[in-house]
Amino acid sequence: MNSTLDSLRTQFSTALVAAFGDDFAHTDPLVFIASDPQFGDYQCNLGLSLAKKLKQKPQDIAQTLINHLDLGEAYETPEIAKQGFINLRLKPSYLEQQVAQLQSDPRLGMASIAEPQTVIVDFSSPNIAKEMHVGHLRSTIIGDSIARILEFRGHKVVRLNHVGDWGTQFGMLITYLQEAYPEALITANALELGDLVAFYKQAKKRFDEDEVFKETSRQAVVKLQSKDEQSYKAWKLLCEQSRQEFQVIYDWLDIQLTERGESFYNDLLPDVVKDLEELGLLEENEGASCVFLDGFTNQDGDPLPLIVKKSDGGYNYATTDLAALQYRIKQDGGDRLIYVTDVGQANHFAQVFQVAQRAGWLPDDVEVIHVPFGLVQNKDGKKYKTREGETVRLRDLLDEAIRRAHQDLDKRLIAEERTETEEFKQNVAQVIGLSSVKYADLSQNRTSNYRFSYDKMLSLKGNTAPYLLYAYVRVQGISRQGGIDLEHLPQEATVKLTETAELTLARFLLKMNDMIAQVEQDLLPNRLCSYLFEVSQKFNQFYDQCPVLKAEEPHKTSRLVLANLTAKTLKLGLSLLGISVLERM
Ligand code: ARG
Repeated sequence: MNSTLDSLRTQFSTALVAAFGDDFAHTDPLVFIASDPQFGDYQCNLGLSLAKKLKQKPQDIAQTLINHLDLGEAYETPEIAKQGFINLRLKPSYLEQQVAQLQSDPRLGMASIAEPQTVIVDFSSPNIAKEMHVGHLRSTIIGDSIARILEFRGHKVVRLNHVGDWGTQFGMLITYLQEAYPEALITANALELGDLVAFYKQAKKRFDEDEVFKETSRQAVVKLQSKDEQSYKAWKLLCEQSRQEFQVIYDWLDIQLTERGESFYNDLLPDVVKDLEELGLLEENEGASCVFLDGFTNQDGDPLPLIVKKSDGGYNYATTDLAALQYRIKQDGGDRLIYVTDVGQANHFAQVFQVAQRAGWLPDDVEVIHVPFGLVQNKDGKKYKTREGETVRLRDLLDEAIRRAHQDLDKRLIAEERTETEEFKQNVAQVIGLSSVKYADLSQNRTSNYRFSYDKMLSLKGNTAPYLLYAYVRVQGISRQGGIDLEHLPQEATVKLTETAELTLARFLLKMNDMIAQVEQDLLPNRLCSYLFEVSQKFNQFYDQCPVLKAEEPHKTSRLVLANLTAKTLKLGLSLLGISVLERM
């Protein structure tokens, strides 16, 4: 890793050992980005944390550390604050030099990671024959952003769509369609997904009500599982139908995914059960084969089972995830396995991980992570549904965002007395609409529930996509107005930062590296959003306070460089969120 924060951590770790000996070789150096600019850029809290152990005053420890610290030229003399905090402030001369240097670097100073990992990101993962819903939308947007950030860092990322394409639903569906619409089982594209979903609902109803139907459906599943030719063909057609519909959403949102659905692991399932049996982990419980879990109990305090083979001989969701986990480690060579689903599946993953751990399928150097997210709610905090109480179709949801963005744009154009072509308007509305939906989702801490509001997400004010896009557009406006190609500013342009607004903006821009490195670890894209929001705010303050085109040299070029670096930071940051910028809006 090579962010400024990481270099500082290394410098403090070295100083710590030099000052207090090898016992501290593995002590966290406790260096953070300063919580408030009055404390400088970075802070170290070792003084207080080691006071007890070293039996010294925090201030004295801080001083000893500083005496052993080699910070080079970048920082002012460190200050010791209350409780032994060490405050570090970057020198203006360093800021100037960095801003000048970064503007011509497409990676903005972020070198690729030295030891790339193979990271498997399992996200989106809707279910065949069922509508993709807002939960899958969250998974898609969050998973994609995480994948983009890891890819940017230089990791090998495998983006997997673990679609629910197997199981009892197909028995019902095939049985029902045989009666109601046999055409759908032999001809491609005989159904729209909308219909497929409706058929699925009807099939489910019959299944619950009609014993004969139920039994026929069960037999249909068995037939399918034994790869009976006709059933298998029908199943493939149904999957293809859903797949096409899902693809529409992925295309709109610019999502790359490799489909590897549940069915992919079918042949591996018997071995999962057999291996668990041989390891002595399997127990029979009411006819089902299961592993009793540590730390998961029922109301009576008895351990809960994780069922891997049902009493009817069928396998389930967990069995498939166990097989998938093994496959991702052994065949894909995954070092880090990430699963992006709603928080409701937290137990499922904890249980699967536990069983894998106990079975010895999880090597120590492989990390498995469930990345949970909260529910999508309407503005009253209820489950997000249509007025009729149905789940909202994603296509409709995205369409509506674009439609509203178009409406807002029309109003704005009238107010600004501008005329634009329909093509321009459509493009702008599409970018704003879709990026607003993405950004609204990503800018929330994903672990909390999130209230979906078109008005909020499309607003030009606040922490929204339009606000950020607009800051970027402002920079492009300067370039157009001055007839200046920002890409070809003199390479050796001197950057001179004198005004507070300039210095503050520069300090912020140099933290991009730290932000990305942090999100790579904690997988919280909302941190990147907050950062980009602050960059936009600092830019707007700078732009309001410091004339650019009208300034004298060297300030004019210097400010152009700063504006350009702002635009590049926003563009890169937004791209990592899956959002593209507009030159005009
Ligand atoms: N299909 C599942 C659902 O819609 C999500 C699958 C998540 N991935 C996994 N490996 N279990 O809830």
